[in-house]
Amino acid sequence: MMAKPSTCVLLGLFGLFFVSLGCAQVEAQVQPQGESLQVLVVYHSLSGNTEEMAKSVMAGAQSIPGTSVILHRVRDVTAEKLFGSDAVVVGSPVYWSNMSGEVKAFFDRWQFEFGVFPELKMRNKIGAAFATGGQVSSGKEMTMLTILAAMLGNRMIVVSDGGAFGASATTEGDSPGINDAERADAWALGKRVAEVAWMVKRGQALPAQP
Ligand SMILES: Cc1cc2nc3c(=O)[nH]c(=O)nc-3n(C[C@H](O)[C@H](O)[C@H](O)COP(=O)(O)O)c2cc1C
Repeated sequence: MMAKPSTCVLLGLFGLFFVSLGCAQVEAQVQPQGESLQVLVVYHSLSGNTEEMAKSVMAGAQSIPGTSVILHRVRDVTAEKLFGSDAVVVGSPVYWSNMSGEVKAFFDRWQFEFGVFPELKMRNKIGAAFATGGQVSSGKEMTMLTILAAMLGNRMIVVSDGGAFGASATTEGDSPGINDAERADAWALGKRVAEVAWMVKRGQALPAQP
């Protein structure tokens, strides 16, 4: 026997109600109500390569619901933006097998301008690095490691993805600029940073230790 049209409508409405309940629960697991997370992606870039990687890092972080991302050149970062962020991802071109002077000056400003010590204001924030360099083996890992070292000095929690020390791209030679694989590495780094930052943020209310 066929159900009456009004019964069908009722059943349909019940179905929709339970499906939407389920969706609300999934959403609640991803993004607890009222919580938000801020990721700061900062970079130095003269010819645009590192900036392009930065935009992919930003997109990766934004793929995690509830995450807002601020994208800035290093010189435009303020104390408010730095200390107000849960995670900071720093990108640099390789200059003479190391981070560029402008990126190093940015880290120095943490103290001279922002006064990060003695309170260790960056402690337990998430940090990560990315780099672009002209040649295959000419300082990208050193550049990322020195960025991570500055973060570790500030007692940050450093993470990587896209590569052992972060995401990187070789910008000169056979395929100039940033290729798809390198863009994907930068995206993966941004995503991981947001994921771990959420884990740390949610774990902040740990029970007091005896
Ligand atoms: C002063 C200077 C030094 C550089 N030193 C290196 C180096 O040691 N190793 C390397 O692989 N590339 C080196 N490069 C190339 C840049 O790292 C590369 O072109 C980078 O992608 C530029 O980034 P940008 O487009 O974001 O400015 C150097 C470039 C400049 C201007």
